[in-house]
Amino acid sequence: MALKGIAPSILAADFARLGEEVGTVLAAGARVIHVDVMDGHFVPPITMGDLVVKAIADQVHEANAKIDVHLMIERPEEQIRAFAKAGADSITVHAEATPHLHYALQAIKEAGCLSGVAINPGTPAEAISAVQADMVLCMTVNPGWGGQAFLDSSIAKLQRIRELIGDTPAVQVDGGIGKETAARCAAAGATVFVAGTAVFGTQNPAAAVKAISTATNG
Ligand code: DX5
Ligand code: ZN
Repeated sequence: MALKGIAPSILAADFARLGEEVGTVLAAGARVIHVDVMDGHFVPPITMGDLVVKAIADQVHEANAKIDVHLMIERPEEQIRAFAKAGADSITVHAEATPHLHYALQAIKEAGCLSGVAINPGTPAEAISAVQADMVLCMTVNPGWGGQAFLDSSIAKLQRIRELIGDTPAVQVDGGIGKETAARCAAAGATVFVAGTAVFGTQNPAAAVKAISTATNG
């Protein structure tokens, strides 16, 4: 089933208390947990790998929620099996990260996961039209870091993505998403809202989850 609603990004969580942080957002109603994987090549930072997915998989699945893996890595097709095995429910790869995008998306489906294709702010919406994916991730900041400001040009791009793919597939937004930007993205066709800083960077992550859900009619 398609992903929907708020997807807290654990990139902004306190890693010393990861299970507790995930528990808080699940209890607040989040049904998607977003995991940002960075390799130090496609984007400069190195973050986490399949071990972290494995560590939270049981907790997330027991809450009837999904683990959404965002691969910001070169040649993502080589890592798909490991993330699927660790417990990923959906895996998104960047159109810019591999010459084998179609193959990578096929491999994700064959591994039993929902497939996503991500595009950077500098990549035109048309880059997704040649491939079949369950979800399109429209980056609303340049990938690599949390806490950046939402790019306003994303709104027109979301509308273009909807023109290209129709009403059905999930469209995810990621970067600078809070109550206000999430509502604007929802109006432009987004259905999945990744939020890191606006959730885990606040005093009350549970309240933030509820506020973003309400702002997007979730
Ligand atoms: C950025 C990551 C995002 C990040 C968003 O490259 O893909 O998922 O966690 O962080 P915020 O919500 O702080 O912009
Ligand atoms: Zn992400």
